[in-house]
Amino acid sequence: MGTQKTFEKIKNLLKKHHQEHLLTFWAELNTAQKRNLLAQIEELDFAKIDYWVANFVKKSISAKIAGDFAPARSYSPHPANAEQQRKYDKAIELGKELIREIKVAGLVVAGGQGTRLGFDGPKGNFPISFVKNKTLFQIFAETIAAVSRKYQAVCPWYIMTSPLNYAETLEIFSSNSYYGLDKKDVFIFEQGTLPNFSFDGKILLADKAHIACSPDGHGGTLKALYQSGALEDMKKRGVEFISYWQVDNPLVNIFDPLFIGLHALDGAEMSSKALIKSGPYEKVGNFCLVDGKITVIEYSDLPDELAERRNPDGSLVFRLGSIAIHIINLSFVERLNAEGFSLPLHRAIKKITHINKQGKPVEPTVPNGIKLETFVFDALPLASKSIILQTMRTEEFAPVKNLFGTDSAETARQLMIQRAANWFESAGVTVPKKPDGSIDCLIEIAPGFALEKGDIKEKLNQIPEIKPKDKLYLA
Ligand code: UD1
Repeated sequence: MGTQKTFEKIKNLLKKHHQEHLLTFWAELNTAQKRNLLAQIEELDFAKIDYWVANFVKKSISAKIAGDFAPARSYSPHPANAEQQRKYDKAIELGKELIREIKVAGLVVAGGQGTRLGFDGPKGNFPISFVKNKTLFQIFAETIAAVSRKYQAVCPWYIMTSPLNYAETLEIFSSNSYYGLDKKDVFIFEQGTLPNFSFDGKILLADKAHIACSPDGHGGTLKALYQSGALEDMKKRGVEFISYWQVDNPLVNIFDPLFIGLHALDGAEMSSKALIKSGPYEKVGNFCLVDGKITVIEYSDLPDELAERRNPDGSLVFRLGSIAIHIINLSFVERLNAEGFSLPLHRAIKKITHINKQGKPVEPTVPNGIKLETFVFDALPLASKSIILQTMRTEEFAPVKNLFGTDSAETARQLMIQRAANWFESAGVTVPKKPDGSIDCLIEIAPGFALEKGDIKEKLNQIPEIKPKDKLYLA
């Protein structure tokens, strides 16, 4: 169809859905821009957009805290009795076997920008280690290389980016020679986007020829895996399980045999790791049972009364917090896509750069519109079975969200030092402490030196005596 004919068709469509303003600057565009704008509009599903505008943009549907609502249960970090010990041992063996047989792939979601961190560019490029200044990407890459060596197996790694940082992420990997990994085992792909809206439900224009869009949230992973060919690549390799984590956690245990094994033994489709929340309002998702299905309720959606509710022993009733680590079956992702699934939308009120009716750029200083996102954990209730493994905060969770304060680069670095010190002490190595009990040295352990506590004992002869204020790097 010629551009003019397509234009007429699209103009009518837009009118029907009250979005005709998208063509306001049509007469000012050159041929290529016109074609491009029409293509962007044609990609939009207006039936869905009408529904979103009515239900998420102009108002907000509240979270699913209704029906049969209870706290979720989990496996404890350590076996509670002899029977469970046997199960954990079996799970660890199975998990190791699955890694060895290349049935497990790593998947990091890295589509977000480092805005809250005040960092320009992909968050994975943020330097977090305190002795060698390694970036998050480098730490993950070294972990994957170390797991690969340990199990004598390839550990394929999938990295989800967004249109905002795909090219930059590729460039970072390429200029760092994929951090020593084989390029063919690293698959970098892009997630989809959703249009941005003004409060009155109009799609915003980024400029005269472009719709304002933003990444569709980490829930977009499940579609992007399918559409990018990443899932096909996994299938070709014989992968069955996807180990999912967020780019902001340098302590993540990417290939955890216990977690993988318990998930597989129990025949689950999508499982999660949890920790005990540090308090009622810690900014993590809450694991709940909604009508018998494991569901995550975001911290912002859990009413204070429920967040504060306590058991007779004083512990929080809703105490299992999500650290956004999952095992997802490849067949589950395939099934969802074959069924044409959709995840619920979440609305976020944001400052959105756009052009106004006069075509002038607007850099808002206060929130002026709505961005819509999907969350990967909303797929949990769609799984036929789901388990939760509780883990120790000190071992596996150091979120880097802000530059200072809670969940900052500073707190993450402290947690990294603390974990290294714990590993040393458990192997009998003395770590210098200040009078207040805090650690009085810097220890950075490269993943290639130790992947877990147990690895330290085998390397005791490589650990020098540590003196106060020492800066130690072990590789
Ligand atoms: C998230 C979780 C929260 C969990 C906490 C643990 C949500 C809404 N909340 O919080 O339940 O307890 O982490 O640290 O997710 N990302 C994409 N594409 C996107 C959006 C995000 O790849 O379109 C990635 C980011 O790069 C990041 C991860 O998803 O790796 C989390 O995104 P972020 O927005 O930082 O989530 P949080 O609100 O910090």
